[in-house]
Amino acid sequence: MEHQDDFMAGHTADRRDTNGAFHHTPVMAAEVLDALRGIPAGIVIDATLGGGGHSDLLLEELDHIEIVGFDQDGDAIAAARKRLQPYGTRSVALHRRFDELPEVAAERSIASISGFLFDLGVSSPQLDRAERGFSYSQDGQLDMRMDRSRPRDASNIVNESSESSLRDILREYGDERHAGRIARAIVEARPIHGSAELAQLVYDAVPAATRAGRHPARRTFQALRIAVNDEISVLRSGLDGALDLLDSGGRGVVISYHSGEDRVVKAAFSPLVDDKRDTTPDVVEPPQADYVLLWRGSRRPGDDEIERNPRARSARMRGIERSVAA
Ligand SMILES: C[S@@+](CC[C@H](N)C(=O)[O-])C[C@H]1O[C@@H](n2cnc3c(N)ncnc32)[C@H](O)[C@@H]1O
Repeated sequence: MEHQDDFMAGHTADRRDTNGAFHHTPVMAAEVLDALRGIPAGIVIDATLGGGGHSDLLLEELDHIEIVGFDQDGDAIAAARKRLQPYGTRSVALHRRFDELPEVAAERSIASISGFLFDLGVSSPQLDRAERGFSYSQDGQLDMRMDRSRPRDASNIVNESSESSLRDILREYGDERHAGRIARAIVEARPIHGSAELAQLVYDAVPAATRAGRHPARRTFQALRIAVNDEISVLRSGLDGALDLLDSGGRGVVISYHSGEDRVVKAAFSPLVDDKRDTTPDVVEPPQADYVLLWRGSRRPGDDEIERNPRARSARMRGIERSVAA
């Protein structure tokens, strides 16, 4: 998530934003609904339930669907269950990682799905609660695990990784230009105990001229979060699992928040929509691709949404449909 500080400012009093203590504004909600409106009756996978904001909207507006939701964060699952309770058996919230979809489908005898939604990144409560360690603007333990039963947290990575692997993490997952300097400063200062200490260390490590504007630790925190939760590698397998299960006429939507995620989504969709048209002259009815993109490239939120919820600013949404069998 590129815009953590904006994200935290992005809460509104809208009915869909509030769920007891769990406040999260669903991003590009109208666009998600539009994209999934025409899908066949059946199951929609919400791979990233969070507080259940998108699922609430989909269940309310689309009578012909049921939701099977995933989240690896126990707090999110508790909040989503509460929010989706009015829909009774039309929704189920599972404390599982989304790359476990094939196993879950087998366990629940799900042969195909009508749609899927991946709304990547972190939820507002994950950032807001200092003890979760996701935020550079509050002091907490260096945790950053979405699933708190995982053995390795941010403290393990910061305090135990080699300088070169820290540098690679910061470059690859944070697009951090000063990855080398920051990695060196971390190694020299270890052990590092909390998020405020790390944020200050990054601030001191980068060239003074780059400290103006947004906090220089933003990219470091994003990179560590992605590494702790193994976000990039599970994304590809999660998407492949959902695409495999998609029914004819079914649609999938993915909202990503930084270029590394968006690259994975594009790489998962592109080979499927490659036109398999046979151009030999004697082929009269050329075979079509199995999937089609719902629109070219990615969609971005409108200015009015970004104004209401600045966290939406970095969102990029891609959509795909499984072609209806001839
Ligand atoms: C941006 S929030 C989703 C918000 C949700 N769409 C809503 O409207 O409330 C992203 C959620 O995805 C969850 N998440 C991230 N990676 C996951 C994974 N691999 N498996 C399951 N959940 C994941 C996070 O724990 C977080 O709750």
